[in-house]
Amino acid sequence: MSVRKRRKVIAGNWKMNMTPSSAKELAKNIYEQIKGKRGCDVVICVPFVDIPAVAQAVKGTMIKLGAQNVHYEEKGAYTGEVSAEMLKECGVQYVIVGHSERRQYFGETDETVNKRAKAALNAGLTAIICVGEQLWERECGITAEVVSRQTKLALYDVPEEQLAHVIIAYEPVWAIGTGKTATNEQADEVCGIIRSVIADKYGKQAAKQMIVQYGGSMNAKNAEGLLAMENIDGGLIGGASLKPADFAVIVNAAQQ
Ligand code: PGA
Repeated sequence: MSVRKRRKVIAGNWKMNMTPSSAKELAKNIYEQIKGKRGCDVVICVPFVDIPAVAQAVKGTMIKLGAQNVHYEEKGAYTGEVSAEMLKECGVQYVIVGHSERRQYFGETDETVNKRAKAALNAGLTAIICVGEQLWERECGITAEVVSRQTKLALYDVPEEQLAHVIIAYEPVWAIGTGKTATNEQADEVCGIIRSVIADKYGKQAAKQMIVQYGGSMNAKNAEGLLAMENIDGGLIGGASLKPADFAVIVNAAQQ
């Protein structure tokens, strides 16, 4: 059986930035900077309320729309939550699940990450599942253990047929928003560990096809080196995704 070549995916995570009107402008500016670049997939993950404005701004372009969270129930009495079907109907194709900021500030656990991932996948969305160790865990020498556990639990009960809609983003917590990037080798090593977890659970073929991104202070300067590593298939980008020129440099570095 032939193995599909992995296409790089560059995803911007705008976090809690941009009102609908400024979001529309930013999306248009990003498009201006990257139009014609079709050598990788580009996604922008925006706040819920910005989704309609950005959907309109990226319509007919190669930029795909993502959200930053999704609830695991289909509907009902879950005040303040948003379901996968709601996102889909608004044109969302991707959703970030289990970002470390959600785990850290909003009580997200491996169990809820798994439930959210399954809800997203069952609705036909692509789930960008975030995993990553904290600084003290790295210093204790348990990075591989932490990241393997998070990956396994996030994929509990996820069938192989749905893996084409799964992206794992390795985001060391100590590198997020800090300006401290993992070295190319550190990032590649952990992305390789994630790939071997996939190999153990689903087989070598599945592992070869799995998109594994790096995230954590990826920027216009370090993207090229990181994206050249064997196990890194793209980036989840926070700060630099709000700067169209910088984001364009990263998209350029991912062209295949
Ligand atoms: P950063 O954020 O690029 O600002 O470090 C990455 C992320 O949180 O996804």
